[in-house]
Amino acid sequence: RVAGPSALVFFGVTGDLARKKLLPAVYDLVNRGLLPPSFSMVGFGRRDWSDDDFRQQVRESVEAHSRTTFREDVWNQFATGIRFVQGAFDDDQAYENLKATLAELEETRGTQGNHAFYLSIPPKAFEKVLKQLSAHGLASREDKSWRRVVIEKPFGHNLESARELNSIVEEVFPADSVFRIDHYLGKETVQNLLALRFANQMFEPVWNANHIDHVQITMAEPFGIGSRAGYYDGVGAARDVIQNHLLQLLALTAMEEPISFNASHMRAEKEKVLEAVVLPEDLSQSFAVGQYTSGYQGGEEVNGFFDEKDIPADSRTETFAAIKVGINTRRWSGVPFYLRTGKRLGRRVTEIALVFKKSPNLLFDNNEDSGQNAIVIRVQPNEGMTIRFASKVPGTQNEIRNVNMDFGYTHSFTEESPEAYERLILDVLLGEPPLFPRHEEVELSWKILDPFEEYWEQHQIKPEPYEPGSWGPESSYDLLARDGREWRRP
Ligand code: BG6
Repeated sequence: RVAGPSALVFFGVTGDLARKKLLPAVYDLVNRGLLPPSFSMVGFGRRDWSDDDFRQQVRESVEAHSRTTFREDVWNQFATGIRFVQGAFDDDQAYENLKATLAELEETRGTQGNHAFYLSIPPKAFEKVLKQLSAHGLASREDKSWRRVVIEKPFGHNLESARELNSIVEEVFPADSVFRIDHYLGKETVQNLLALRFANQMFEPVWNANHIDHVQITMAEPFGIGSRAGYYDGVGAARDVIQNHLLQLLALTAMEEPISFNASHMRAEKEKVLEAVVLPEDLSQSFAVGQYTSGYQGGEEVNGFFDEKDIPADSRTETFAAIKVGINTRRWSGVPFYLRTGKRLGRRVTEIALVFKKSPNLLFDNNEDSGQNAIVIRVQPNEGMTIRFASKVPGTQNEIRNVNMDFGYTHSFTEESPEAYERLILDVLLGEPPLFPRHEEVELSWKILDPFEEYWEQHQIKPEPYEPGSWGPESSYDLLARDGREWRRP
């Protein structure tokens, strides 16, 4: 799958995401031979940069963060197609310059008028940029060439703002030209969920309420918010990752088999299951929120949330959130899904665990904790899957103990997994939409999260402190303990 001729225009090119992920991902695609020689890239921003200054910036971020081995000849070829257009987001002249630059690239490199605009910018700037693209005739085209827009989360702050944003975007670009990035969908292990479920015979028959007791989805990170207060404060863990990444993991875990992997079939199944999500009647007993304190992690002294730069002393923004939801379908009725995420937790891990009902174990000397099977999809790191089951402990006694059977990508495959952004940027340029949520999905996920956020706001819920390196506040353990369950220790 090699993309056709095109130019990719980045707005927000000086941001962290562009530097660490997006620009290196583009270079890696070029280096892997997945973009054609005509491929061109334009940065748009306020810095007073020449094309060469921008090339230098791109080169530095590629050298620091790319996953492939740097090749001077590949770089030189790529660099000849790099341009920078200087201007503010509302500067009319700058859009005229962008238009001229794109025309020049079409002429000299043969990009054939195919343009993707990647908005890696604060949401409040979306409307301005979109209107300018439209006003300067950059959003649509009458010949066979294409125009696409890529938007990064956050897709709004709640259902209402997400709807507004969606209508602003889709006023300028038709729905099938809008690519909303949820980078978790670009991860190999996340896509593998579908293979695991639908390319095998052994999992699907037990993948339901008859056998599964509950599902735990964990996304833990060992680091704090660092210098991201400007974005993070007022957003918090639930909006930052539950609304998007974790609810997408839930949807892929819980959805029915689609008729095919084409975008409309995939999206229809995901939407169906998101629409079936129900919240517990007593919301007050269905969540936990926390904020990390200062302390030691990995032998190092670390800041508490309130010591981070620009966090106001009365911030109620949560850095840990856990919620419990149900799914009202025949497959999942009565099976709770527990979702948790947090900063400054024990270690970096994202996993989905389907925990089975307990086996009665009537025949063994010990039957307490053993025999509760689990299928654990290890999204990252140490990508793979674990199946947990009971085995007889060697010896003359009749005891059992839980053991793990592991599948690991590094053992089973010699192929390397592409970085999520590589896969997604390539799909944008190929015009392949299955891995991009459409606006209905985004709105449905806000519908799930909004009641929690509103409850926290209405009751002025103060997140409970938790120590760095722990697995979150006490109330997170209580959330499961009330149901007679406990979190897995990843
Ligand atoms: C982003 C969140 O979407 O995902 C960050 O805004 C988070 O807060 C990041 O750290 C995690 O991504 P990954 O791929 O490292 O798990």
